[in-house]
Amino acid sequence: MKNILVIGATGQIGSDLVPELRKKYGNNNVVAMAHKSQPSEELMKGPIEFADANDKEALLRIVKGYSIDTIYHLASILSAKGEQNPELAWHVNIGTLKNVLDVARDLKLERIFWPSSIAAFGPTTPRDKTPQRTILEPGTMYGVTKVTGELLCNYYFKKWNVDVRSVRYPGLISYKAPPGGGTTDYAVAIFHEALKNKRYECYLREDSVLPMMYMPDAIRGTLQLMEADPSKITVRTSYNLAGISFSPKELANEIKKHIPEFTCTYKPDFRQAIADSWPKSIDDSQARKDWGWKHEYDLAKMTKDMLEKLKERI
Ligand code: SER
Repeated sequence: MKNILVIGATGQIGSDLVPELRKKYGNNNVVAMAHKSQPSEELMKGPIEFADANDKEALLRIVKGYSIDTIYHLASILSAKGEQNPELAWHVNIGTLKNVLDVARDLKLERIFWPSSIAAFGPTTPRDKTPQRTILEPGTMYGVTKVTGELLCNYYFKKWNVDVRSVRYPGLISYKAPPGGGTTDYAVAIFHEALKNKRYECYLREDSVLPMMYMPDAIRGTLQLMEADPSKITVRTSYNLAGISFSPKELANEIKKHIPEFTCTYKPDFRQAIADSWPKSIDDSQARKDWGWKHEYDLAKMTKDMLEKLKERI
């Protein structure tokens, strides 16, 4: 029987992951941990705790109290917000990860998941079909915390055998929770605006191609990685993971097939420089080989599903 803690449960990934884990492992076996954000009604249907993951005592109390054996540590400040407050990004992204890894080591927890990102790459990284092992010189504090975190995970595995697993998520697109403070957020905001106002002003250039993924693929991949036999895991920093690569213009054109009146204009801001430093496409052959990763949603399938699901919600 698994006892799971999801830290950062109210965020973009947590909002989809918690219900999925509860379906799979039982409602009472998945504890959602939130900090400042108001949880959705859906999250409140199971056990929930409010704490700051930088508070090690609080974390220990929760982990011991629920006999937690598995942690999904998702709390993080994203790339754009991190550039506005690099100090906070370091404090939240690295301070909390160190706490989680220490608790996992000291209490001999079974398994940890921590997300890295395409933001671990930077302007000196090859941008097409970015390889698993390549140059990691990110230009954002968010990216710096992702590279640091990857190395920390690898270190805790090598030195103390902490079974921590990670993927470098592309930009994630979902309808349950809005993303907050990322560079790839336009690919979510555009759907909300298309449905509500039939127009959107994008803060990236129309030709800015970035790697993206629909949330159901991301959740499925995450669970697949976490269920894989330890002998299959050959990467202990973080696995490259690819879904679909597209530009804002390509996405806008796909939305137009469903909402013909939709118009998109482009007014790049500071996030353009961040996007320009990230890959266009990702080589995820290692994840495919090691634990059978395969994405399901292409641009057309994702757009259709996203519009349908979001329409029901708003
Ligand atoms: N979606 C994230 C961001 O834009 C990347 O991991 O910051």
